[in-house]
Amino acid sequence: MSLLFSPLTLRSVTLRNRLWVSPMCMYSAVDGVPGDWHHVHLPQFADGGAGLIVAEATAVVPEGRISPHDTGLWNDAQRDAWAPIVRSIRDRGAHAGIQLAHAGRKASTWWPWAEERGSVPASEGGWPTVAPSAIAFEGFAEPVALDSAGIDAVVTGFADAARRALDAGFEVLEVHSAHGYLLHQFLSPLSNHRDDEYGGSLENRSRLLLRVIDGVRAVAGEDIPLLVRISATDHAEGGFVPEEAAVVGGWAIEHGADLIDVSSGGLVLHQQIDLHPGYQVPLAETVRQGGRVATTAVGLITVAYQAEQVLATGAADAVFAGREWLRDPHFGLRAAHELGAEITWPPQYQRARWR
Ligand SMILES: Cc1cc2nc3c(=O)[nH]c(=O)nc-3n(C[C@H](O)[C@H](O)[C@H](O)COP(=O)(O)O)c2cc1C
Repeated sequence: MSLLFSPLTLRSVTLRNRLWVSPMCMYSAVDGVPGDWHHVHLPQFADGGAGLIVAEATAVVPEGRISPHDTGLWNDAQRDAWAPIVRSIRDRGAHAGIQLAHAGRKASTWWPWAEERGSVPASEGGWPTVAPSAIAFEGFAEPVALDSAGIDAVVTGFADAARRALDAGFEVLEVHSAHGYLLHQFLSPLSNHRDDEYGGSLENRSRLLLRVIDGVRAVAGEDIPLLVRISATDHAEGGFVPEEAAVVGGWAIEHGADLIDVSSGGLVLHQQIDLHPGYQVPLAETVRQGGRVATTAVGLITVAYQAEQVLATGAADAVFAGREWLRDPHFGLRAAHELGAEITWPPQYQRARWR
């Protein structure tokens, strides 16, 4: 029996397996609206055997976009464009999730294949950024520190985007609180120097994330699973650490999250990451055991047996992969084949099951 290909039930949703597609920005939307690229890109992973496909970091407000070409969910045109993509994923047997995001001080930047680097100037369509404190990400424009009305608007933005995501048919939601984006900026003492109730103690630094979870859960009701992606360490001195991540993970679950998606880094350029296969798996295990919460592991998990091992050792409850799905959109079919797992293949592809 393969653990990787055993189902996982979160609230009212039973995912057909535990090998999932990690959210990946495609920088291919116009005015936040997903288009032809997304129609092909996302459903192909459902044919390829994924249990859950989480669509890219999708901005809850326009100023929360990482780049001008990010997807969004701040208006109904964006909602309506997501709906057929979700339907296509569901028709192919997988579930569709979406990552709700606000980039904070890392917003308004060039997409990876642009020739420029750093912040997009206003003359080129960029916008002023916001953050917990007026501290720039190295090489980026200085953000404006959010005031309390601005913080309230962020909470409302997440809740409104969650409602549109559900209306578009998404059955799983994820809040992005990792990789140096806004909610992570609040969590880390390196980017949060506030002296009000949103800064200082871990409880205060977590306050915005927990308010966002409350807001999203209120919209989502009792049936919809909610994931929260965190960076369990900043990989930098004086930053957010795994022991804090375990505590925050526990609080997130108390506030209505169902699973902590454990990643790391992205807050500062001087991070020191020891990259190797499965390098973030021990973090998922720390959060799972320390916080007594369900977790996913992600990061250089590229081989079926390796993913199976992550589950067998109890480090996580499911596995996200990113780049391996880009290299092979049928990673799930291949993994099932290698593990000898009995899965339902797309009938059109049945003949590839046997030699
Ligand atoms: C093209 C690309 C875009 C990404 N965009 C996002 C994103 O939108 N949200 C996010 O949380 N992580 C994003 N990531 C990180 C992945 O979700 C994943 O955590 C990371 O690539 C490590 O997993 P892997 O080694 O299996 O690729 C992105 C990664 C890639 C390669």
